[in-house]
Amino acid sequence: MNTFEQYEKYLVPAGQKVAEPIAIVGGKNSTLTDVNGKEYLDCFSGISVVNAGHGHPKILAAAREQMEKLVHCCSYVYHVPKLGELAQKLAEITPGKLQKSFFGNSGAEAIEGAVRTAKQATKRKEMVALGYSFHGRTVGTLSLTGNMGRKKNNGPYLSGVAFAPSPYCYRCPLKLQPETCGTACAHAIKDTIVTSTSGDVAAFIAEPVLGEGGILVPPSDYFKIAVSIVHEAGALFICDEVQSGFGRTGKMFAIEHYGVEPDLMAMAKGIAAGFPISAFIATPEVGDALQPGDHLSTFGGNPISAAAGLANIQVLKEEKLLENSAQRGEELLGRLNKHKEKSKLIGDVRGKGLIIGIELVKDKKTKEPAAAEAKAARATLREQGILVGVGGVHANVVRLQPPLCLTAAEADRVATTLEKILV
Ligand SMILES: Cc1ncc(COP(=O)(O)O)c(C=O)c1O
Repeated sequence: MNTFEQYEKYLVPAGQKVAEPIAIVGGKNSTLTDVNGKEYLDCFSGISVVNAGHGHPKILAAAREQMEKLVHCCSYVYHVPKLGELAQKLAEITPGKLQKSFFGNSGAEAIEGAVRTAKQATKRKEMVALGYSFHGRTVGTLSLTGNMGRKKNNGPYLSGVAFAPSPYCYRCPLKLQPETCGTACAHAIKDTIVTSTSGDVAAFIAEPVLGEGGILVPPSDYFKIAVSIVHEAGALFICDEVQSGFGRTGKMFAIEHYGVEPDLMAMAKGIAAGFPISAFIATPEVGDALQPGDHLSTFGGNPISAAAGLANIQVLKEEKLLENSAQRGEELLGRLNKHKEKSKLIGDVRGKGLIIGIELVKDKKTKEPAAAEAKAARATLREQGILVGVGGVHANVVRLQPPLCLTAAEADRVATTLEKILV
């Protein structure tokens, strides 16, 4: 039985929604290799995970060394020095007063923990989230997610969540123009609190770049306005950096582009270049609201992943991958924005660093989403040896999220191929 047949017979269909009909056996830097030896330029990084590139020798060595000493111990003892070291490192590299971490395994687990902590710290119970957000696939995180495509079939979800309009300038939910709107979507958070909550709001949760929503980049003053409204209402700001963190946008964390300090921050994908680990980090006052025994994760903060995480952060700095992300991103955005003027298919190009969305439309005036065309483009790119993602609330956004070690020649190849395909 081959891999494709095993998936068909032994995996539930939900987990085997494989977009690309290829079986990958190896990876190095930005390149993946399939069972037939065909190479692909990976422009999706396991969905924004392998930021330092596939198979980085320093990260593998750190994990291997730790594996020989201790694989698992859980949190009823103080264990491996690596976990304390990683917590200290996260406090150093995250913005503002963020200092106290909790470790889990997945993005959803980090969000669940952050929300629980925010509720305990404020003694409040309600949440405000964004209309096109995505925060995970547990019942709690789906309740905070404003994307029907991700929630379908399993409602109703948990109550106590109010949704504010998303900063989606190309399709403004308030039907305004970005040049003249005064960032009305950020101000609308006040209306959401007044009209859709009882005032008992523990936190506002948002992604600094909305990944699954279609790589939506909020206006530069969005978070200053939003966070001041939220703080005035006595609530906290939880920043979801699960997809945008660890250099993806050209800074260590995407929220640094916006000059605000979160009260809690969730992170996962990019921490350890593919070794499973997640965390939320809080200011000391907020983090200390959780008392010993209040929260726990059996596998959370796994020693091997913690060692890999520390090595990964070191590699991101040593190899100047944040700078490379900013530079390659600027080149790609420049080329794609220029090409947009000629292309009938491209309605919008947006991004920061190496998280880029190309929104395809059937007609530039009506902006009718071109979902089938996005899917077809992904297949054509695959045939030409490039793997990309497709997403967005209308499933019409081609997503480029390559490893941050992408070279100038590789970026040129991606842009040149897209210029030929997206006509
Ligand atoms: C912004 C954001 N938050 C949370 C999650 C959930 O992460 P996980 O799939 O690791 O649970 C994701 C996953 O794509 C995400 O993009």
